[in-house]
Amino acid sequence: MTTAGSGAFVFFGATGDLAYKKIFPALQALIRAGDLDIPIIGMARAGWTLDKLRERARDSLENNGGIDADAFAKLSAQLQYVDGDYADPATYQCLKRTLGAAARPLHYMAIPPSMFGAVVRGLAQAGCADDARITVEKPFGRDLASAQALNRTLHEVFPESAVFRIDHYLAKEAVQNLLYFRFANAFLDPVWNRNYVDSVQITMAEDFGVQGRGAFYEEVGTIRDVVQNHLLQVIALLAMDAPAGRDTQSVRAEKLRLFRAMRPLDAACVVRGQFRGYRDEKGVAANSQVETFAAVCLHIDTWRWAGVPFYIRAGKCLPITTTEVMVRLKCPPLAIFDDISPATSNYFRFRLSPEVTISTGARVKRHGEDMRGEPVELIARHEPRSEQSPYERLLHDALRGDPSLFTRDDSVEAAWRVIDPVLGIPAPLHEYEPGSWGPQAAAGIVQGAKGWHDPRPETTAPC
Ligand code: BG6
Repeated sequence: MTTAGSGAFVFFGATGDLAYKKIFPALQALIRAGDLDIPIIGMARAGWTLDKLRERARDSLENNGGIDADAFAKLSAQLQYVDGDYADPATYQCLKRTLGAAARPLHYMAIPPSMFGAVVRGLAQAGCADDARITVEKPFGRDLASAQALNRTLHEVFPESAVFRIDHYLAKEAVQNLLYFRFANAFLDPVWNRNYVDSVQITMAEDFGVQGRGAFYEEVGTIRDVVQNHLLQVIALLAMDAPAGRDTQSVRAEKLRLFRAMRPLDAACVVRGQFRGYRDEKGVAANSQVETFAAVCLHIDTWRWAGVPFYIRAGKCLPITTTEVMVRLKCPPLAIFDDISPATSNYFRFRLSPEVTISTGARVKRHGEDMRGEPVELIARHEPRSEQSPYERLLHDALRGDPSLFTRDDSVEAAWRVIDPVLGIPAPLHEYEPGSWGPQAAAGIVQGAKGWHDPRPETTAPC
């Protein structure tokens, strides 16, 4: 696979939601940065015209970050539109003519996975897939079997080196910093194992519901939507061993080893919840059994992590919007002072969003005669938020053929293998109040007296 730039960007689903919310803003940002001066071809079967697509782009930008007049003028000029049925070979002949001599086009599938097969074959038959690249979005399938089928479909036409699977979490500055912080600092490694780490907690909380995406959410639920992908990827970066080399393949190899060492989830270690009112959302079944909250306990069967629980909690309509990782260390071996307990032990805290923080929790003596302490945080990094959006970064990389921030077929399948045992089982679904931390039953997932870490600012206490 060459790393030469793509000569055209083609996006299927140009009139859809993903293009509206993410792709147009990323394209405008790339143009503004001077990184995109190739034809941009929108594909859809909507009976639209190019002018209507330009209007849609304008509307998208007005509602998602704002218009930059110069960049938008260029985007409008670069934009082209091909309308047609994805099942009709004529659609791809028309695309072929529009592409002209453009080399290595990047085809972005902003369409439901059920259509991938038809599009991939249509591209191949018309000669639009020669030396081309393809980008697909998460979730990659609904379970292990469908992910394998999806990979087979893509590989019918595109070699793995030409497939770019987007998990936008991997392009977040804070998530990349997990990898950097771990392997750029020698002080961390001696404690980064079962001898010193007591437990790891990851909370991905959102204070909003499904935001009009009820029909989409009914097909996924929290476990498929964010646990199988974003949060397992975060765990992989936190827990993997050091890569043997600097190259992308070495990092991917270590991540794969880690995914393969994750123990498939046990239904007894999963609590599912649904916020009150979810069933009233548009597109949601009146008796929906889809979870909007999940709490799970995961184990990694390696020498480094044996016996260390990795807790994940994710949900909609929780008290705040944030993603935070808490790596709790064990207590000192002997309690010399009275105020030492598991809840006051040292920790590393990685706040991944909305702001980015890396800090270490320690204790220092309080002024006074007593040998009593108080918690302090040593902050290594604190930034309001990152400048470049994950989509901008990922489109830029895919257009250059750089696979570093994309997920490989074997890792995706290994992650599904972890999740598969708890999909589709009639596990109880607990209702919870919007604005709460999910169902009470979630408390039972965390062993010991410490409970879930509260990621609200200024709090490190259990909740
Ligand atoms: C998406 C999920 O992948 O990630 C959404 O489909 C979720 O349900 C979103 O809200 C969260 O990503 P971010 O970057 O907005 O925190």
